[in-house]
Amino acid sequence: MKGIILAAGHGTRLAPLTDITSKQLLPVYDRPMVHYSMQTLIDAGIKEILLIVGPEKCGDYLNYFGSGAKFGVRITYEVQDKPTGLPDAFIIGRRFVGDDDVTLILGDNIFEDKLTKAVESFKGGAKVFAKEVPDPERFGVVKFDDNMKAIKIEEKPKVHLSDYALVGFYIYDNRVLDIAKNLQPSSRGEKEIVDLHNWYLEKGELEVELIKGEWIDAGTFDSLLKANNFIASQRKKS
Ligand code: G1P
Repeated sequence: MKGIILAAGHGTRLAPLTDITSKQLLPVYDRPMVHYSMQTLIDAGIKEILLIVGPEKCGDYLNYFGSGAKFGVRITYEVQDKPTGLPDAFIIGRRFVGDDDVTLILGDNIFEDKLTKAVESFKGGAKVFAKEVPDPERFGVVKFDDNMKAIKIEEKPKVHLSDYALVGFYIYDNRVLDIAKNLQPSSRGEKEIVDLHNWYLEKGELEVELIKGEWIDAGTFDSLLKANNFIASQRKKS
């Protein structure tokens, strides 16, 4: 299993903070935001990690993580010149992924859960994760039937679909490389990650697992503050 962290994008929702640095380098209590995504992959047992960054601050990521040796992993870096959608991670990362399966985590997502078992038990198809939230319209949303089987997935639905948001941690088999390559951009001009999910959903090969612990997409002022407070309270407990 290979791991990819996507830490590119302009982070416009966090401007003017993101006028001085990249979103995923902003502090969350005692570390840059992206460190939490890295730790989630490391805790999941993934040893080969590709970090995709924007061109502006790429040297800062390299300074911070280096080769990965101090974390016991090997880190490869790629630059995404322009943000053109999350599935691009699999186009940029094609050579890195090779013939393996791949886990993608977004560099602004903070997880309390250790996702080791989810990664270890992955057999093929796609596995994505959901969490009940008060503001599902901010996210990809999944609707379940009475047996908690996923039946519909939509990106930021305008009409309420369900309260279950899809979090930024995804496991796919190697076919995702070709599926991502062949995706057409949506009306907003970007390739959409939900189209990858829907490809597997239509084939009956998408598994959706619920996240039990806290999950925060730290991409807005309020959620960034929440992430800081959450990590602060975790640190004080330990
Ligand atoms: C992205 C995905 C969305 C997902 C979210 C999780 O949205 O497109 O499906 O629910 O990450 O953080 P973005 O935060 O880029 O708007």
